[in-house]
Amino acid sequence: MAEDRAQETPETPEGDEPIKQRKNGLYPAVSDELAASMKSGWADTEQRDLEPIAQAPHTARRRAALSARFPGERLVIPAGNLRTRSNDTEYPFRASSEYVHLTGDQTHDAVLVLEPTTTGHDATAYLLPRSDRENGEFWLDGQGELWVGRRHSLAEGAQLLGIRCEDVRTLPERLAAATGPVRVVRGQDEGIEAALTDKVTAERDEEFKTFLSELRLVKDEWELGELRHAVDSTVRGFEDVVKVLDRAEATSERYIEGTFFLRARVEGNDVGYGSICAAGPHATTLHWVRNDGPVRSGDLLLLDAGVETTSLYTADVTRTLPISGTYTDLQRTIYDAVYEAQEAGIAAVRPGAKYRDFHDAAQRVLATRLVEWGLVEGPVERVLELGLQRRWTLHGTGHMLGLDVHDCARARTESYVDGTLEPGMVLTVEPGLYFQADDLTVPAEYRGIGVRIEDDILVTEDGNRNLSAALPRRSADVEAWMRDLRA
Ligand code: GLY
Ligand code: MN
Ligand code: MN
Repeated sequence: MAEDRAQETPETPEGDEPIKQRKNGLYPAVSDELAASMKSGWADTEQRDLEPIAQAPHTARRRAALSARFPGERLVIPAGNLRTRSNDTEYPFRASSEYVHLTGDQTHDAVLVLEPTTTGHDATAYLLPRSDRENGEFWLDGQGELWVGRRHSLAEGAQLLGIRCEDVRTLPERLAAATGPVRVVRGQDEGIEAALTDKVTAERDEEFKTFLSELRLVKDEWELGELRHAVDSTVRGFEDVVKVLDRAEATSERYIEGTFFLRARVEGNDVGYGSICAAGPHATTLHWVRNDGPVRSGDLLLLDAGVETTSLYTADVTRTLPISGTYTDLQRTIYDAVYEAQEAGIAAVRPGAKYRDFHDAAQRVLATRLVEWGLVEGPVERVLELGLQRRWTLHGTGHMLGLDVHDCARARTESYVDGTLEPGMVLTVEPGLYFQADDLTVPAEYRGIGVRIEDDILVTEDGNRNLSAALPRRSADVEAWMRDLRA
């Protein structure tokens, strides 16, 4: 049935007037003869037979959970719109994680609507149909088929996604006319929000977003497969970097960034966040994404990077590498303390443990080492109670991972930070120590050293699995791995 409705001729509110000319076009207005020529002589390619996407059964289950939570309410989940980069060029589009999670689709301007019924909800994906040949859109509009490629027809969309599909250009009017309670995911599509402005409240929409965030806390089997792909590609990207690190041309953080990015684009969609390619003292800046510094032998390279799969799941991995291939004594001492903290953190990841446990375990190790090194006055309990170690540890020890690098960020405190770990959760464990170049409270030789080690950990039924274990972590193992890759 869904497919039948999807094949109805869409209404195109703006599609009646012929498009005469592209803005800023070089050519004069389109003659009637050319317009007539462009309308005809094309093979019929409206309907191709497509296989449903592999995750369709999973997206259906996620929508069912959503439907059960909000009976009788109309639920609106936009993918988002293109954003102008400059003039008539756009940023690469990345659909909202909420929309992707519930549909598996990634197209811009799309909107998922769950319409309440007596038994639950009917799902409809409102999409842009193929660009129109009758009015010239397909060759005259900057988003037309001959400019940016073919969009799926609505019937194809229904086949792919397993959801009824309709023309999104009809949606604002439908929403404006609709009655009954509505919720919308805000911050993605101004046009859709404008159509709903009298019908929604910030508080109810916040509750909606929170639920969608919490729906992603436990990953299903399909998602875990994607996260494994993301991590495996990321491992290859790290190997790529190590292989070029001793090359004459690898003198800049930009070269490292570009090397990793090649892997991300060839095997995935993109990087899941701006790669942090921080050499020397830049490693003490937590999110160093400027990547405009030099790479010098004798310094450390903190590489924090993750491949985002074509399905938009991302890894988030950090290794702190000796650019020369060998850690100096002090670099090794600091590195080993972070390694020990990470080991303690990973050991605390298991079902039933409090989310905070792995953070506390890692912080205790770091505080202990800082006291031993004489950088802060003990005892360790006092340091932890007052949080004094944070001058050098700076950030939390991890976060959920998934479609977003900091996944499930809108979840309630009680279900995330104050919550309990469950099988199927995936989180990072990423302690670090950062001695700023201008920190006068530490000996001069510490200044400008930053170390972080970050792995992606799956909570299993009986403990955890380190998805990024293929990348060595012990200092001696890192050195041996670098030697082997460079040989
Ligand atoms: N790459 C950002 C983070 O580790 O959280
Ligand atoms: Mn990271
Ligand atoms: Mn992280």
